[in-house]
Amino acid sequence: MIKLNTKFLHSYFPKTLLDKNLQKSISARELLHSKKGAGSEYLGWVNLPSSIQKEEIEQVLKVAKLIKESSEYLVVVGIGGSYLGARAMIEANINSFPKKNQCKILFAGHHIDSDYHKELLEFLEDKDFSVNVISKSGTTTEPALAFRSLFALVEKKYGKEKIKNRIFATTDEKKGALKKLADEYQLTTFVIPDDVGGRFSVLTPVGLLPIACAGVDIVSFINGAISMQKQLASETDPEKNIACVYAALRNTLYESGKEIEILVNYNPKLQYFTEWWKQLFGESEGKNKKGIFPAGVNFTSDLHSMGQYIQDGERKIFETILNIESANQDLTIEEFPGDPDGLNYIAGKNLHYVNSKAMQGTYLAHYEGGVPCLEISVPKLNAEISGELVYFFEYACGISGYMLGVNPFDQPGVEDYKNNMFALLGKKGFEEMKKTVEAKLNSLEKN
Ligand code: PA5
Repeated sequence: MIKLNTKFLHSYFPKTLLDKNLQKSISARELLHSKKGAGSEYLGWVNLPSSIQKEEIEQVLKVAKLIKESSEYLVVVGIGGSYLGARAMIEANINSFPKKNQCKILFAGHHIDSDYHKELLEFLEDKDFSVNVISKSGTTTEPALAFRSLFALVEKKYGKEKIKNRIFATTDEKKGALKKLADEYQLTTFVIPDDVGGRFSVLTPVGLLPIACAGVDIVSFINGAISMQKQLASETDPEKNIACVYAALRNTLYESGKEIEILVNYNPKLQYFTEWWKQLFGESEGKNKKGIFPAGVNFTSDLHSMGQYIQDGERKIFETILNIESANQDLTIEEFPGDPDGLNYIAGKNLHYVNSKAMQGTYLAHYEGGVPCLEISVPKLNAEISGELVYFFEYACGISGYMLGVNPFDQPGVEDYKNNMFALLGKKGFEEMKKTVEAKLNSLEKN
C-alpha cells in the first residue's frame, strides 16, 4: 500500500552513491533480524505486531469500553515515547471536531507548564473523566508531576475507593515507582515490554489503550502493522524493500549535504504524526555529533510561513512528503454569485483536488529551487494504513540508524538537561552538582 516516488530527486546525487547505500542497507537490515547490532536488547518492536496476543487486545478493548462508558474525557499522562504515538494515531484517525458521546482524549504531563495544568484541572472539575498514566520508568518528572495533581483530583471527586475505577496505569511489568503505586491502589495495569523502547511502543498498550478509547479501530491498526512487518521481513532485495530504499535515500541525501529532512503533510490530521516521526528519527539518529535533523511542516498552512525558507533559504534541506492520495470525504467548491474572489473557475471541483494541485505545484517549485523531494504515498488515511506507516517508519529508522553507525535504540543525550534540572531543584544526591551548575549559570549571566 505504501509507495515511494523518487522522481523529484533526480540530479541531486550520483546513482553510484545510492547504490552503495542500498548495499549498505542489506547488512543494516540483517542486524535488526539477527539482533547482533548495538541496542539489540530493545528490538522487541521488530516482531511486535504479529506477536500481540488476542487476549491482550481483548483486555485493552474491555478496559477501553469501561472507560468510555464512565468518562466523557480520558486524560493521558505521559511524555515522549509514552505520549506522541498515541496522540499521533488518535489525531490522524478521529474526526477533527469531536462527536457527541465520544470519549475525548486530553493530554497532560508532556510538559511542565503551570497554566496548562491548572486550566486542565479546573476544566475537569465538573466533568466525568478517567486517567491513563503511562511511564515505563515510572519516575519521569513531567508526567509524575501532572499525575500528582490528577490523582488528587480523582480522589477528591470520586473518593478513595473509586480510584481504581478511574486510574489506569501503563508501566513496567515488575519494577518502578508507578508499578508500586499501581499495586498499592489496585489499579488495572498494562505492561510495557522490557525490550521495547518508548518511541517504538505505540503498538503496545502505551498506544493501544488511548487509541482504543478515542474510538479508533485498534484491530485494523495492528493488522496494518502486521502486513507491513511481513512485507519488510520477507523482501530481501534492497531495491524492492521500501524501508531499505527510504533508509538508503535519506543517507545518500545526507552524504550529499542535505542535513535537514522535513516531513511534509498536506493534512492537518498528520501534525502529530510528524511530531511522532521527529522523535523517532531525532532520538534514534542524533548522536555522536551526526544525524539528519528531522523537522516538519504542515502544508499548505506553512507554505505561508516556512515556505519562503524552504524555497529560498539555506540549501541543506530535503523533503519527505507524506501524500494521502484521496480524502475520506469530498467537499465540493461552491459557485459564488458574482465571483468576487475569482475562484468560480474551480467551482464544482472538490477541495482535495485543489490540495493535490497545490502539492504538485509545490513539488516542482521546491525541486527546481534546490530541494530534493521524496514522496511516500498511501491511498487514504485510516487505522490500517496508520499501522502500516508506523511499522514502515520504525523499521526504516532502525536500518537508517545502523547505516549511520549509531545505536538507534538508546538516548543518552536526554540525561544532561535532567541532571542540571535535578541539581537546580535540589534533588537528593545532586548537592555538589547544584553548586557547579549554579556557578556556571551565574558566570554566564555576568558575561
Ligand atoms: O523514547 C523514549 O524512550 C523516551 O521518549 C521516553 O518514552 C520518555 O522519556 C518517557 O519515559 P517514561 O516512559 O519512562 O516516562
